[in-house]
Amino acid sequence: MRRRHVLTLAAAGAVTAGCSTRRRTPSTDASAPSASAAPAGLAFPKGFAWGASTSAYQVEGGATADGRGPSVWDVFSHEAGRTRDGGTGDVAADHYHRSYEDLDLMRDLGLKSYRFSISWPRVLPTGRGTVNAKGLDFYHRLVDGLLARGITPLVTLFHWDTPQALQEAGGWTNRDCASWFADYASMVCYSLGDKVQTWLTLNEPKTVTEVGYTAGVHAPGVRDRRVANVAAHHLLLGHGLAVQAFRATGRKGRIGAALNLSPVYPADDSDAARKQAVIGDAEENRRWLDPVLLGRYPDDWLATQPADAPVRAAIHAGDLAVIGTKSDILGVQYYNPAYVTATGARVQKHPTSQASWQQLYPQGLYDLLTRIRRDYGDIPLTITENGIPSVHPTDDEDRITFLRDHLTAAHRAIREGVRLEGYHVWSLLDNFEWAEGYTQRWGLIHVDYSTQQRHRKASADWYQQVIARNGI
Ligand code: FCB
Repeated sequence: MRRRHVLTLAAAGAVTAGCSTRRRTPSTDASAPSASAAPAGLAFPKGFAWGASTSAYQVEGGATADGRGPSVWDVFSHEAGRTRDGGTGDVAADHYHRSYEDLDLMRDLGLKSYRFSISWPRVLPTGRGTVNAKGLDFYHRLVDGLLARGITPLVTLFHWDTPQALQEAGGWTNRDCASWFADYASMVCYSLGDKVQTWLTLNEPKTVTEVGYTAGVHAPGVRDRRVANVAAHHLLLGHGLAVQAFRATGRKGRIGAALNLSPVYPADDSDAARKQAVIGDAEENRRWLDPVLLGRYPDDWLATQPADAPVRAAIHAGDLAVIGTKSDILGVQYYNPAYVTATGARVQKHPTSQASWQQLYPQGLYDLLTRIRRDYGDIPLTITENGIPSVHPTDDEDRITFLRDHLTAAHRAIREGVRLEGYHVWSLLDNFEWAEGYTQRWGLIHVDYSTQQRHRKASADWYQQVIARNGI
């Protein structure tokens, strides 16, 4: 209940005008592929990037190893009451010390692609200035280990672990943070750029904005929507500056953002609900997609910002051109749709999971992918996250059903012409799930946190076969 539940409720009341169109009113799941209905033998395109995802703070541990500096998540998770079980990322899945074992597990799975993030404070302990060579070496070894096993690295530059030193200088509410991020991106992209082909700038700026700066449930624990929108703009500016910094390194390769997106549907057939769904769509999707892919904020979203909203002053002339610097790829993260009532309230229409903000609706992935193509053109897409927590330690049939249903929906989108290059399960390993601590297990591979032993779950065996067959 703590996370995107808060997010969607917070977002629901946040906007007041809308103008584009949304048509679907799915009141039943009739068209959604289900496990039993999944047609046998769906072949994916040759070279499809079958992958899995992690992020630095969630798996690495080694919080003070080899000169790593603290991030906002180190500070936040150590404060009383911030995480459900008092968990922190101090040790997590100890991937920092067990990366070779994990690389072999990836090889055994047959992974084609591994998405991980660089810990900004591991390579720049205070966020800027002197590089921590030992920290950077860790990522060189990791990338070398992937390449040696035939696995393509997909590297995220920012997965929420802002260096604490920068937070003390205002963090993302300080416009300079966008430039600090671009400087860090430049250094990392240059250093690893002869081995890494595809980069992701930001992971889910929406979650940082809504959960970190509005609900205060994630680091840095701010509860101020007006401030949150300023941080959101600076995050997007950081994305644009990082794209430019990457190009300036002269390294070859591709770069884009990883956005969590939710198709938004009216909860009933009323005009009022339809109108509210448009407003919800601006908040959930267009306020992120439009600046990154079209270089503008949606008018109906901007209209929701009062004349004295600090975000208006934060948007400087020329910013949108920077933010809209051409991306080569878009990472799509899908966990749930949203349903909006005539009053703008969010309602649940589908079964959930242990993560109560989740709604299980595979058809939403198809709707999302085809909509991106329709409204934003033919940019290559890769699913950078999709997954479900399971209470079953290793017999996770529920995860298999989830993955099969979502892959079926993705396949349908590909068949209809969507340029989907890859799919990354969240997550490779059980890990630190932010405010939920260690109470949710999202991995294909089980981690016994008392021994750090890894065990493949049933879903890992299933996924291995999918990869081997290049299809379901
Ligand atoms: C996403 C995050 C990822 C993980 C999954 C469950 O929003 O990007 O780190 O927490 O949710």
